[in-house]
Amino acid sequence: MIKVLAINGSYRVDGITDQSVEALAQALELGGAEVEVILLREFPIEFCLNCRACTQQPGVAPGKCVICDRMQELIDKIERADCYILAAPTNLGSVTAIFKRFMERLAVYAFWPWDMNGPQFRKEQAPKKKTLLVSSCAAPGILGRVFFGTSKQLKMSAKTIGAEVVGTLFTGMIAKQQHPKLPERVRTKIKALAVRLV
Ligand SMILES: Cc1cc2nc3c(=O)[nH]c(=O)nc-3n(C[C@H](O)[C@H](O)[C@H](O)COP(=O)(O)O)c2cc1C
Repeated sequence: MIKVLAINGSYRVDGITDQSVEALAQALELGGAEVEVILLREFPIEFCLNCRACTQQPGVAPGKCVICDRMQELIDKIERADCYILAAPTNLGSVTAIFKRFMERLAVYAFWPWDMNGPQFRKEQAPKKKTLLVSSCAAPGILGRVFFGTSKQLKMSAKTIGAEVVGTLFTGMIAKQQHPKLPERVRTKIKALAVRLV
């Protein structure tokens, strides 16, 4: 059975990101996949220390972080999964702070010894796993995709863990109600995206 890992960086219970990830999970499960959703807001991890101890260790496997928290558990889940959903709303032109904290802890996927100018991605040569990217914003979706950093940041996370992006759901104009409901046209798109992933 195909294992899908969804990592959701939304702060809000049943917001647009939660609803999008849930609709995707339902569609994928109907297609026979096993889906695990990690809500970063309920999955405490520390900030990266920028010590780069993890980046000194050679090899294609993620380096070991010096911090003893749940990030290792999350890395193990990432390694075991066949494909991903990476999701975060746009706050101040960026992924949420909670998603950025997760991204920085993905430093374990970089090999960057002290004498090298920049990092090498450990998964660069590995067979690519597929991923979908999910975001939302108050601005029109197309503007959000082009002008905000969210899309780039989600793509950077995908590249770091060795995933190729096979679809993006960027729902715009969605912040005019206190409890917005996922529009029907978005649900239709979600069904098509689920097929692309598995
Ligand atoms: C602190 C904050 C900052 C935001 N910044 C932006 C922004 O820069 N651009 C934008 O289009 N929408 C912005 N929004 C709107 C959110 O992206 C939008 O409501 C999103 O759908 C929230 O996701 P959620 O429903 O999963 O909570 C912001 C909302 C908040 C609360």
